[in-house]
Parts: sequence; structure tokens; C-alpha cells
Amino acid sequence: MVAEERPGAERWVPGKPTLAGLRAAATECRGCELYRDATQVVMGAGLRRARLVLLGEQPGDQEDRHGKPFVGPAGRVLDRALDEAGIDPADTYRTNVVKHFRWRARGKQRIHQTPQQAHVTACAPWLAAELAVHRPVGVVLLGGTAGKAIYGSSFRVGERRGQLTDWPTRVEVDHPPDWVLPTTHPSAVLRAEDRDAVYDGLVADLRVASRALAG
Ligand code: URA
Ligand code: SF4
Repeated sequence: MVAEERPGAERWVPGKPTLAGLRAAATECRGCELYRDATQVVMGAGLRRARLVLLGEQPGDQEDRHGKPFVGPAGRVLDRALDEAGIDPADTYRTNVVKHFRWRARGKQRIHQTPQQAHVTACAPWLAAELAVHRPVGVVLLGGTAGKAIYGSSFRVGERRGQLTDWPTRVEVDHPPDWVLPTTHPSAVLRAEDRDAVYDGLVADLRVASRALAG
């Protein structure tokens, strides 16, 4: 992969965007090669007035087909956990670090592949623009890819989850959120041997976010 093939998303991000403007512009993005094998771009979804941004990794198979984040199995776990934690779904804007589905074929199946650091870097201008438009009160980091995207490669979700932290100064945004809450990715619940325990942990962490929103 030569550098010209992965120029990064910056040149596709409009100057003074709205959320709708970002969604339209992202359909043109060729910031890295992931657009080639994906069905469509999956930008964030939710209301501008939502106070909470939920940040995942990348769209999965279902999200790639439907063009919306968290509409597959992990999304159903997330919806249930938000409900149990007392967070209104309308108060959330859901998006991902990387906006195209990265996968490899196994027979007829499309198997999720974790995005590389280079994909995260290439796609970062979209997230920066979403946060600049959105100005959320809090950001929930779902899993390791989201955590590393914000805090760097040494981030370990197991060490940091459930604790409110500050937005890191190394990631520049005009209006940083008041707090960040790392937690487990909902798909980790589906992969876990002890699903109930991992799910309960996710709900407990989201309750921390719920209380922080209640102020
Ligand atoms: N997993 C993610 O990280 N994001 C989605 O949108 C769906 C599954
Ligand atoms: Fe652009 Fe991000 Fe898609 Fe790469 S993954 S083409 S940078 S939107």
C-alpha cells in the first residue's frame, strides 16, 4: 500500500459541516482503501441535541448492509444495556472510529477484521468533525479500538473501564466533552464465555455515564 492510496479523509471533510452535510460528504470518501470492499459508508446516527456520543470500532456486516451504526447483534446488546442503565436512546449519537466495514471472506461469510492503526488515522478527520459539530457532554468509548483512538496505543480497556476520565489533550477538539467513559464493547458480551458477567459489567459502566449525565 503506497501512501497515495491512503491519503486520509481530510480532503473530503466539508469546511463548515452539519451532521447531514458530513453524512453526504462521507459517501465520497476515498481516504483509505476500505471503501472498495464495503457496501457503503456508515456515518454516525442520532440527534444533534443528544448529550452522549457512543463510539464504537467500525460498522459490522449488518451495519454495512443497512448504512447505520449498531443495527446488528452488538447493537441489540447495546440497546438493552442502555435501557437497563437508564440512558434514553434519543440522548445518544452513535458512531464509529472507522466508517467502512473491514472484512475478509470465509466461504460466503464476511468475517470482521479489526482496523489497522493506519485506517484509524486515515478516518480520524470524520470523527473530529462529528465531535466539533456535536459538542457532546460525554463520550462513551466502546472497546479497545475506540480507547486506543482517543488515548493512544497503550490504552487497555480492562484497566480503565467504568472510570470517568478527561478528554486527552493530545486529541484536539474545539469543545472537548466534560468527560469520557471507557467500557467494554457490546460484541465482547457476545463472544464471552460468561456472557452475563460481561453484560452486567457493561450495564454497571453505563450507569456511571447515566449518573454523570444526571449531574
Ligand atoms: N460494532 C461497532 O463497533 N460498531 C457498529 O456500528 C456495529 C458493531
Ligand atoms: Fe474514508 Fe474512513 Fe472509509 Fe477510509 S474508512 S474510505 S478514511 S470513510
